[in-house]
Amino acid sequence: MPRRTAGVSPMKRLLFSSSFALLAACSGASATGDAGLTFQKDVRPIVEAKCQVCHVEGSFTPFALTTYQDVYTHRAAIASAVGDGRMPPWPPSDSCGSYQHDRSLSPEQRAAVVAWAGGLAPEGEASTFVAPDSGTPTALRVDTSLAIPMPYQPVSSPDEYRCFVLDWPQTTTKYVTGLRVVPGAIAEVHHAIIFQIAPADVAAVQALDAADPAEGYSCFGGSGVNAAGWVGAWVPGSTGNVFPADTGIAIAPGSKLVVQVHYNTANTAPVPDQGAMGDTRVELQLADTVKTPAVVLKWANPQWVRNHTMTIDAGDPDSVHAFEFTPGPFLGTLSGGVLPSNSAFQVWTAGLHMHARGAKATLQVTHPDGSKDCLLQIDDWSFHWQGSYDLVKPVKVGAGDSLSIECHFDNSGNRQPIVNGIPAPVGPVNWGETTEDEMCLGIMYATP
Ligand code: HEC
Repeated sequence: MPRRTAGVSPMKRLLFSSSFALLAACSGASATGDAGLTFQKDVRPIVEAKCQVCHVEGSFTPFALTTYQDVYTHRAAIASAVGDGRMPPWPPSDSCGSYQHDRSLSPEQRAAVVAWAGGLAPEGEASTFVAPDSGTPTALRVDTSLAIPMPYQPVSSPDEYRCFVLDWPQTTTKYVTGLRVVPGAIAEVHHAIIFQIAPADVAAVQALDAADPAEGYSCFGGSGVNAAGWVGAWVPGSTGNVFPADTGIAIAPGSKLVVQVHYNTANTAPVPDQGAMGDTRVELQLADTVKTPAVVLKWANPQWVRNHTMTIDAGDPDSVHAFEFTPGPFLGTLSGGVLPSNSAFQVWTAGLHMHARGAKATLQVTHPDGSKDCLLQIDDWSFHWQGSYDLVKPVKVGAGDSLSIECHFDNSGNRQPIVNGIPAPVGPVNWGETTEDEMCLGIMYATP
C-alpha cells in the first residue's frame, strides 16, 4: 500500500508542523529532550483514549500499545506516524463538520506524543497518570445475532472483500435501531458494511452466492446488487452504533441482509474467520415500531449510474465529478416513501464512498440563500478507512435546499488498487462495483 497520510488536512499538517518545530526547538535546549513530558502523565492518557481501540493484543494492527514497554519500543514509528497524521486514522476534515466518537488528536496532543516519542521517552511516575474520560460506552441491546453461515478463510492478500448472505428470520416488519459487528478472527477483520436486500432482490444475491463456490461471494464496492440499502458500517474499536432515539430502519419480512467483510491479512496469516466467540456476526437492536422511521439516502448522479457518464480518463491525476440537485420533488421516491416529497428532513450521519482511486470528496447542503452546511469532507481518501460519521448536531435540509457531492479521482497510477500485491494497470475508469470501477456516493442517515 502506498504510504499516505490518512485523514490529515493540509491545515492540520501545517498547524502540526509548526508546533512540532517549536517543541523540537525547545527540546534542543532541554536536557530531558522532551520538555518534561512523561509517559504516565502525558502520553498514556492519549494512548488509552485514542490508540487502544485498535492497538491491542490479537487485533488487526501490527502491534499492541498497551504497556509503557510497547509504546517505548515503537516510539520511532509512533513519532513518524503520529507526526504526519497517519495515526490515529480519522478521515473527516475538521474544516467541515463535528462528529461523535472523534478519534483525532488535538494539535497539542499530537505535538506532545511526537515530542515525547522523539525524545528520551521517559516513563515518569504512575501516580501522575489520570485516566482519560472515555465517555459512556454504547449501550446496544442485542435482540438478534446473525452469524455468517460458515467460517470463511480469506485467499487474497493483503485485502479481500467478501459478501455473506444472512437470513432475516423476522415474520413482521422490524426496525433496526442499532448494530455492531463482532469479528470472528479479530486479527483479519478490518471493517464491515451491512446492507439490506428487499424481497424483490433476494434472487439476485442468491444467484451471486450460488455462482461462487466458496462461502459467500466476492464483492468490492458494495453488495453486488445496486438496489441494496445501506443499514450501517462497523469499524474496529466501535462497541456499536445506536441510532438516534426513536428512529430506525424498516426491514420487511422476506428480506435478507448482506454483510460485506473487508479482510486484511497484511499483518497476520489468513485463518478461518472464526474465533473464541464464534464466526463473524452482526448483532442488531430491533424495535416493532419507532416514532420516526429513518432511511439511509444514497446520493449520486443517476446519469453516472445508468449512462456511465462518470468518465475518468486513463492517467488523469485529478478527474473531478460533481452533482448538485434539489431532491425535494423526488424525496418520496428517493427514500422509498420514508421522507415525504417537498418536505424538510434531518441528516444525522454522513458518509462518502469511492474506491481506490478516490482522492478527496465533499458532501454538502446548499440553502436557497446560497449559504452551505458541510456534511462531510475527506481530503485524503483511503478506501481502507471508509465509514460513516455521526454528526454532533443533525443538519436540516429544507424543502428547497440542494445537496451536492464532488469527488476527485487520481487515475495517474498513484492510487491504483493493489490486487495480490500487483497494482492494477492504468486504464479508463467508470461507474461500477468492482476494483476496476469507481463510485462517488454520499450516504446519509435521514429522518423526516
Ligand atoms: C482505528 C484503528 C487504529 C487506531 C485508533 C490507531 N491505529 Fe495505529 N494502526 C492501525 C492499523 C490498521 C495499522 C497498520 C497500518 C495500516 O493499516 O494503516 C496501524 C499502524 C500503526 C503504526 C505503524 C505505522 C507504520 O507506518 O509503521 C504506528 C506507529 C501506529 N499505528 C501508532 C498509533 C498510535 C500512536 C495511535 C494513537 C494515537 C494509533 N496508532 C491509533 C490502526 C489504528
